[in-house]
Order: sequence, then structure tokens, then C-alpha cells
Amino acid sequence: MTEFAADRLLLFGATGDLSRRKLLPSLCALDADGLLPENLAIIGTARSEIDDAAFRDMARQALKEFLPAERRGSMATFLNRLTYQQLDASTIDGFDALAKKVAETGSGGDNGGLAIFLSTAPSLFGPTIAGLEHAGLTGDRVRMCLEKPLGTDLATSAQINDAVADAFSEDRIFRIDHYLGKETVQNLLALRFANILFEPIWNSNVIEHVQITVAETVGLEGRVTFYDDAGALRDMVQNHMLQLLALVAMEPPTSFDATAVRDEKVKVLRALRPALASETVTGQYRAGAVDGQSVPGYDEELSKESNTETFTAIKAHVDNWRWKGVPFYLRTGKRLPERVTEILVQFRAVPHSIFEGTGAGLQPNSLLIGIQPEEDITLSLMAKVPGLGEDGVRLREVPLQITMPDAFVGQHRRIAYERLLLDLIKGDQTLFVRRDEVEAQWEWVDAIRTEWEDNGVTPKTYNAGNWGPTAAIALTERDGVSWHE
Ligand code: BG6
Repeated sequence: MTEFAADRLLLFGATGDLSRRKLLPSLCALDADGLLPENLAIIGTARSEIDDAAFRDMARQALKEFLPAERRGSMATFLNRLTYQQLDASTIDGFDALAKKVAETGSGGDNGGLAIFLSTAPSLFGPTIAGLEHAGLTGDRVRMCLEKPLGTDLATSAQINDAVADAFSEDRIFRIDHYLGKETVQNLLALRFANILFEPIWNSNVIEHVQITVAETVGLEGRVTFYDDAGALRDMVQNHMLQLLALVAMEPPTSFDATAVRDEKVKVLRALRPALASETVTGQYRAGAVDGQSVPGYDEELSKESNTETFTAIKAHVDNWRWKGVPFYLRTGKRLPERVTEILVQFRAVPHSIFEGTGAGLQPNSLLIGIQPEEDITLSLMAKVPGLGEDGVRLREVPLQITMPDAFVGQHRRIAYERLLLDLIKGDQTLFVRRDEVEAQWEWVDAIRTEWEDNGVTPKTYNAGNWGPTAAIALTERDGVSWHE
């Protein structure tokens, strides 16, 4: 692998939504904290016919809208890093001019390097890579970063991966899953592998089940065509939720290094048992109220009927020694009652209760890892209720809670892309998804979609502001398990 810090970052889709909401704000925040290489130049490219000044104006507006004032630092210094080159990536014509701009911009000489970030429609990936190859922008000192969606199933994802692999070796391909850039997601690794307490009990002997919830209050957010073609399974489960599952379930890697971590994650993804239709639930929201506001139904937002799921719950199994018989319940949806991402690890009951018959109220322990909006870890323990206990020992669950912002006062909450952009510039792939992981994820998700098709599964409705269709409750209740709420 060629080691270098990029001195140029080339952003495709530079005037688009992701760039305005996340990429430019993340880069500006990193700059304000003095974390960007001093000589880093950022070249934006997109179809819009604008010049450098207009691109900087657009960026300034985006920063004001999407980055809190206290994180902006000197915006002028950051904006000075930006230049722009107009390009229609669907034809080869403009790529020579782009290459010229990139060459003029670099200041790293022989030590420099280029990081390319593709945040465009996947239909442009192929033509863009052909254009970059034609213009000599795919050499050893060029990295390629890809934003989802990377295909809609295993076959289309393989096509994209093949096209990229023609021009870039795997150690220069950086596939984003922005959940891996979230601080608390990385903290999962610290919790599991920097503490001796958990690893000995992190298996089917002591863990009864795991729940992973990624709930959103938002609806379609204007992404009508994209979302209706994707649905919750492909939009959220295929990537973010399976990455969370892999981090919870993986064996200890030998080091915090890209190969070691990703080798362990892919083993978990390959050990996922194909889910049966009866182990899944799909839903689609209808009009209702979220956060006290009435909101329209999915079909109304779409202005037509659709069979796309905006909610899914799945009972997953990891078929290996560690997780034999431990269900992983996954659930995600739009227009749910609250925005919350969390992982619940439910431990088993004690093998024998010495408090039997005393009415003590013994509950099994649990560990709740809050990822957003709260970043906290809560271990629920049993404690004796104080008192002389004439009617016997009484027990109650008490939380042992670590709230990350309190434990690390003075640290600001970062945008997930800050970590990922910095790693892209430096060339660290640990928090990026390797091809074999993406393909194992698609394989599992494709099998579920086939199950749905073969069994004529269509989404059940739920009113916006509810936790999905009632079938989602039945999915766990029949195992004697309740969703954490
Ligand atoms: C994206 C999905 O990958 O993740 C969106 O396409 C979803 O539909 C978003 O809203 C959620 O990300 P976050 O960081 O807000 O949880």
C-alpha cells in the first residue's frame, strides 16, 4: 500500500446535498481545529456552470446553514482552499481540463497525492472512472472514496466494484458507511476490547439476545425516487445495521488495523443465516403525528401507491459457536416516535435465584449502548431496596450509567464525516468497508428480498408516530421478548 497524505481532495458532486450538508461542513470544522494538512487544496466539481468565487459563495452559505458558528473557525482560511472545475461526468470531454486543474492545484510535488470523493448518482460512477482513467487521474497516488448507494443488489454492486477495481487497487478504495464515523460506534470497539469485563461473558452462555434499533422521525425528505427504489432494508439494514451487528458480534481482532478489523467483521457477515419471511416484518407509514405535528402518509408523499417498506424488523442469527441460539433483533423505520439508535444486550437470568419466593423482583441484567441522539452506556444491575425488610429482601433494577458528554467534558460532538474524511486524506482504511463485507451484506439482504417475493410479502401499514406495524411486536413477543422503548 502506498502511504501518503493527500494534498488535494477532489469532490465530485460538490454542489450537491451531501457536500453542502456534511462534506464541506466537516472539512471546515477539521480546518478550524487545525487537523487538515496545511497544504490541502479542495477542488469541487459538478455540472453547474459556476466559477471559483461562486463555489466559495455556495460553500459559505452551506457552512452558515449546516455548521454551528463555534465550529467554523476562520471561514475565510477554509474557503481559500476551495476551487471549482465544471464537468459533465457523463462524457469524457471535460476530464482533460479537470486533470489540468488538479495538476495546477497540487503543492506536494512528488510527495503529494490525490483523494477523490464520489458523491454522485451511481449511474455516473462508471463514466467518471472511465474519464479519470483517460485523464491519467487513477495512478498509484490516487485514492477513490465512494458514497452509497453502491448498487441495489449483489449483482449491481459487483458491477460497480468491478468498474472501480479496473482502475484502483482495493487498498486505494474507500467505501463509506457513515455510521462507522460515529464516535459511539467506534466506542463499541473500546467497550468490548479495552475492558476485560465484557469479553468473557460476550457469548451465548450469558447473552440471551441482542436488539439493534435505528429509528427515525423523518419521512421521505424529498428523496422520492431514490427511497422508493430502495426501501428500509436496502437503505439502512444492508449497510449501517449490519455494520453495527458485525461490530457487536465479531471476534477480537489482533489489532486496531484495517485488515484485522475487517477480517473479523466479514466472518460475522458471512455467518449470518438467511432469514425466513416469517422472521421478518415490513411496514409502510400512513398519516399520523410525529413530535406533535401531523404528517402525511408515505403514499401521499409519493402521490401513488407503493410496495416499498419504510419499516422493517428482522430476527437474525449468527451461525457460529459464540452466538449459537442468540437472536439479533433488528428494527429500523421512518416516521417512528423518536430518533434513536441503540443496541441492547440482554443478559440471561441468574442460573439459580437465592431470592426465590421472597417476592424480590429479580430481573436479568442488560447493557444499553446509546449511539444517538444520546451517547451513553447503561448497565442495569440489581440492587437491594434499602430497608429493614420485614417482608423479605426487595430488589430493584438500578442503572450504572456513563454519559459520554459528561465523561469527556469540553469535547465537541463531531460530524461522522470528519473522522472519515481525515482517514481518507491520511489513507487509513480501518473505518471503511471492504469489498467482501459489502458483498456479504448484499447476499444476506438479497436472500430476504427473494423470500419476500416468493412469499408475496407486502408492507403492513402503521400510523406515523408508532413503532411500526403490530406484527413487529409479535415478532419478539412470541419469543417472550419485548422491544426496548
Ligand atoms: C442514510 C440513509 O444512509 O442514513 C437515510 O440513506 C437515513 O435514509 C440516514 O436517514 C440516517 O443517518 P443518521 O446519521 O442521521 O442516523
